[in-house]
Amino acid sequence: MDESIRMTIDQQNVQAAAGSTILQAARQAGIEIPTICYHDHCTANGLCRICVVEVEGVRTLQPACVVQARDGMIIHTRSERVIRSRRTILEMLASSVDLSESPEILTMLTQYHSDAFRFPDAEARHPAVIDDNPMYIRDYAKCILCWRCVQVCAEDAQFTYAINFSGRGFETQISTFYEIPMPESTCVFCGQCVGVCPTGALKPKREWLLEMGYSPDEIMSLTRSQRQRRKRREENSPNPS
Ligand code: SF4
Ligand code: FES
Repeated sequence: MDESIRMTIDQQNVQAAAGSTILQAARQAGIEIPTICYHDHCTANGLCRICVVEVEGVRTLQPACVVQARDGMIIHTRSERVIRSRRTILEMLASSVDLSESPEILTMLTQYHSDAFRFPDAEARHPAVIDDNPMYIRDYAKCILCWRCVQVCAEDAQFTYAINFSGRGFETQISTFYEIPMPESTCVFCGQCVGVCPTGALKPKREWLLEMGYSPDEIMSLTRSQRQRRKRREENSPNPS
């Protein structure tokens, strides 16, 4: 039984294993499609839509990271419509999120000739940095809601379920359940969320303090006293048994 499929991507004949996504088929053929929310080790959710491509005969643009390639598809990854769509997505991101520590997205803004100030009336959220544990800080002004941290905290890696979306619409944000401090959540401080965050919204505490001008000795004493406070809190909390 033939388990491969054939398609055309950007006028190039491409063969891929049945079940491949358009993104996988393209990458295998050396055709690069940009991604933001997609991560090789996370379940693809099709959230950011930067990977959209045009498929002949299909009315809407298709997110390549989640749509399966089919035999006979004719795909365009850099048509005018695709480029315009990606440019607009980048411009909307730039108008509402602090991308100063998102080097890959900043590179895309240049590549797609995006105007970061196209939507001057767009409202950006400026939540305060959350510094509630000795391991990492959360700066959600830089969060693009890519969902990667939530996924690695859940079924993609750690099965800890410490974080999820909270709020709706403009107020949507990654948070702990009931917005409790991270040390009171199920978080085990494995660091996987920090590792997959593409924007600097999650950052090791040490790196953050170094950037603010603290010396290594000052950082040691700051994080140690935070650990001691946490230990005391745990010792003083009522035993449920
Ligand atoms: S905190 Fe980082 S990984 Fe999590 S959703 Fe925001 S940008 Fe993505
Ligand atoms: S990379 Fe495909 S939707 Fe984000």
